[in-house]
Amino acid sequence: MSTSSELLSIEGASKSFHVRPMFGASHEVVALSDITIGLEAGKALAVVGESGSGKSTLGRAVTRLFPLSSGRISFKGKDIALLRSRAERLDYLRSVQMVFQDPFSALNPAHTIQHHLERPLMLHRNLHGAALASALAGILADVELDPAVTLHKYPHELSGGQRQRVNLARALAVGAELIIADEPTSMLDVSIRRSVLDLMRRMKETRSIAFLYITHDIATAQFIADQIAIMYAGQIVEWGRPDRVIANPQHPYTRLLLSAVPDPAVKLTGDRSRAFSHAADAVRALARQPAPLIAEVEPGHFVRQAIAGP
Ligand SMILES: Nc1ncnc2c1ncn2[C@@H]1O[C@H](COP(=O)(O)OP(=O)(O)OP(=O)(O)O)[C@@H](O)[C@H]1O
Ligand SMILES: [Mg+2]
Repeated sequence: MSTSSELLSIEGASKSFHVRPMFGASHEVVALSDITIGLEAGKALAVVGESGSGKSTLGRAVTRLFPLSSGRISFKGKDIALLRSRAERLDYLRSVQMVFQDPFSALNPAHTIQHHLERPLMLHRNLHGAALASALAGILADVELDPAVTLHKYPHELSGGQRQRVNLARALAVGAELIIADEPTSMLDVSIRRSVLDLMRRMKETRSIAFLYITHDIATAQFIADQIAIMYAGQIVEWGRPDRVIANPQHPYTRLLLSAVPDPAVKLTGDRSRAFSHAADAVRALARQPAPLIAEVEPGHFVRQAIAGP
């Protein structure tokens, strides 16, 4: 599954957290279980799953926030746990940028948008004067923000969608090659979600930036992703081209996610709703089982299966 042309290769990555609750016994939480998936430069991988499935843990592992319990993550062929020199680590952290759900979280309320975007251009690209102004104008044009109405504003003076555009612009300014976008549109007004997704797709196509797009909404994954990975209880249960996975879902959990995509024509009430929730619990119980077998459903479309019992 991993090839040398990959920008990011995740191989057999597992992560357990030791949890010591205030009350009750301490225990292990398996947040990632044997994850193997890759991402090529300029492509997007959508990681889709419900709350608690391990999506953010996967994103955080890629940003080196903690070591894996086992397995490895490589960027341009180099194991990111083995970046020894400070320069190598800083270069990696520059190449891989996070964009979060809350568009405020990465912006300093005390600084203008101009400050937020100029600083990385000066620090990382050593640009000044006319070269700085021209790079700044180019980046703003890329994220479709009007300099006249944006640059002198503070983060709280912008809409949520504009703030998310500033966050994406900042990733461009530092020269990111991979953007990990963790639910980047879920706090935005429904009417502007699509335009931010469209922007990410254009950044991918015109700037050749790779995206790890984390979402619970399988429907949005199709807008941007070249590959989709369906995650539950720390495992990727099914993966492949989004159109194929969505048209021909094999894993019961993928089907469950697709059935939960809001369809205004379907109203679940009374017995039907209870029956659905019962069936959903059974699917989740199944998807929690370790599933070490991998079947290729059709070229480039894979599903994990449990070893059949006796
Ligand atoms: N630092 C930590 N310490 C202990 N448990 C953790 C830690 N980080 C994550 N977990 C646990 O790992 C599991 C996966 O969490 P994660 O945040 O990755 O899920 P998620 O898919 O991003 O969910 P959401 O959609 O709600 O953001 C959860 O059971 C969570 O409680
Ligand atoms: Mg999360």
